Amino acid sequence: MSANGPTRDELIACLAWHVACGADEALGDRPTHDQTFIPLKSFLADPLAAKADGAKTDPVQPAPSSPPDSTLSLVEPATNQLNAITTLTDLRNALDQLDGCALKNTAGNLVFCDGNPGARVMIVGEAPGRDEDRVGLPFVGAAGQLLDRMLASIGLDRSTVYITNLLPWRPPGNRTPTAEETRLLLPYLRRHIQLAKSEYLLILGGSSAKALLGTKDGILKLRGVWRDVDFGNGVVLPTLPSLHPAYLLRSPAQKRLSFDDLLSLRARLA
Ligand code: URA
Repeated sequence: MSANGPTRDELIACLAWHVACGADEALGDRPTHDQTFIPLKSFLADPLAAKADGAKTDPVQPAPSSPPDSTLSLVEPATNQLNAITTLTDLRNALDQLDGCALKNTAGNLVFCDGNPGARVMIVGEAPGRDEDRVGLPFVGAAGQLLDRMLASIGLDRSTVYITNLLPWRPPGNRTPTAEETRLLLPYLRRHIQLAKSEYLLILGGSSAKALLGTKDGILKLRGVWRDVDFGNGVVLPTLPSLHPAYLLRSPAQKRLSFDDLLSLRARLA
């Protein structure tokens, strides 16, 4: 560090560290601090050099080891309270007020749903990306545009489907959600499915299919097979796992499989 403050290289290193932590875009014009502020000087300090010259560096807190007992209490009350929620609006409000999920702290917006809540088909994706986080709606980015074209190919659009995600908040840097985050949020998704009362459920992507179907099987094994699933309210919902449009953007040759699944959905709707 120079006498005049951090150098350009040090600032770039600091920025790279933020990006690696998932803070990969600026949401506002001005910086804000909702966490304890760690001065750049102490972050950049070489701990050994600092020790030698007597400077004080902020101690690094050890990560909690095994999940604390309170982890369970994050999940249990939610499940009980969820049964008392009887409208989609109240479910959205419950998520808005949910404490205990770190994803909420880093996300820009709650991404709850899009489309028609009375539709015959409900679609569950995985998690909002950067575009969805900005707008607050699911599937508005490149994958969403492909989804719209996929739906159009069988005569559907956002007025004839209802769309949500496994996670209502964007994981920072689009990282994979932790098992704990999924465990906390899955009961909300199940309640969402119950309240939407669609006739058919289309699950897009491996992580949502695994979570909702309670399996470790991969999406290429699960896809294309209808299952009758009770999501906890005694109602059997015909459910079809299929490939995620983001995967299809990376692997266009797999669109054939996806189209087979869409035709299967169209046949059910006919
Ligand atoms: N991918 C998803 O699974 N959901 C979105 O909303 C956007 C991208």
